Amino acid sequence: MSIPRHVAIIMDGNGRWAAQRGWPRIKGHKAGVKAVEDILEAAVAEGIGHLSLFAFSTENWKRPGPEVASLMALLRMYLRMFRRRFIEKGIRFHHLGAIEGMPQGIQQDLRELEAATAAHPGLVFHLALNYGSRLELVQAARRCIEDGLKAETITEKSLQARLWTGDAPDVDLLIRTSGELRLSNFLLWQSAYAEFYVTETLWPDFGAQQLRDALDAYQQRERRFGGLAITET
Ligand code: FPP
Repeated sequence: MSIPRHVAIIMDGNGRWAAQRGWPRIKGHKAGVKAVEDILEAAVAEGIGHLSLFAFSTENWKRPGPEVASLMALLRMYLRMFRRRFIEKGIRFHHLGAIEGMPQGIQQDLRELEAATAAHPGLVFHLALNYGSRLELVQAARRCIEDGLKAETITEKSLQARLWTGDAPDVDLLIRTSGELRLSNFLLWQSAYAEFYVTETLWPDFGAQQLRDALDAYQQRERRFGGLAITET
């Protein structure tokens, strides 16, 4: 099977990675950002078209205040640093989620990064921040109504076009690190036929080789989309 057009990753295990070393959780998140940088590079090298990373969910605000604040500070710093990298590598940046719920400064950074990279022809990097799939579906339904669609003209296509992922292709490969077997409200619609790959590796230890292993596993899969295998009669 060919290279997946859209790879989505639920990055999990930063806290445990830090705890294993007796370090505060934020050190795990810092190491997690380094893994993001490496995976972006590896995804470009592998020829992946769309990469979606789940960095902060609509539910993550429930975490202790100091952890949320440090995560936001880290994000702000890296969004600025990423700018140069995206320009060098021709990466198009796209935010997934309810932007109005993010701190003002980050909203501005996200919009600027999207605008600065909008014409880039390479990898599309979708970063999910303040993202929840159910909320995405609710806002898509609202947008159908706002756009004046009648009940009978609402189709899978018209609803899908109003998801935050817009015209991105469906997820082909969904990876989750740290061994958890949950979707956690990530890209529920877009992953309807995704192949799942779960690894025990904690996110900070997930690098180019681990992505290659996931792609190799994907290539062994037989995708039927509800039909029959080609070899079956
Ligand atoms: C999951 O590990 C990780 C997160 C909720 C945050 C992920 C965020 C980053 C890697 C930073 C992203 C930043 C940029 C700039 C892309 P966890 O904290 O749930 O770990 P645990 O399950 O071991 O507790």
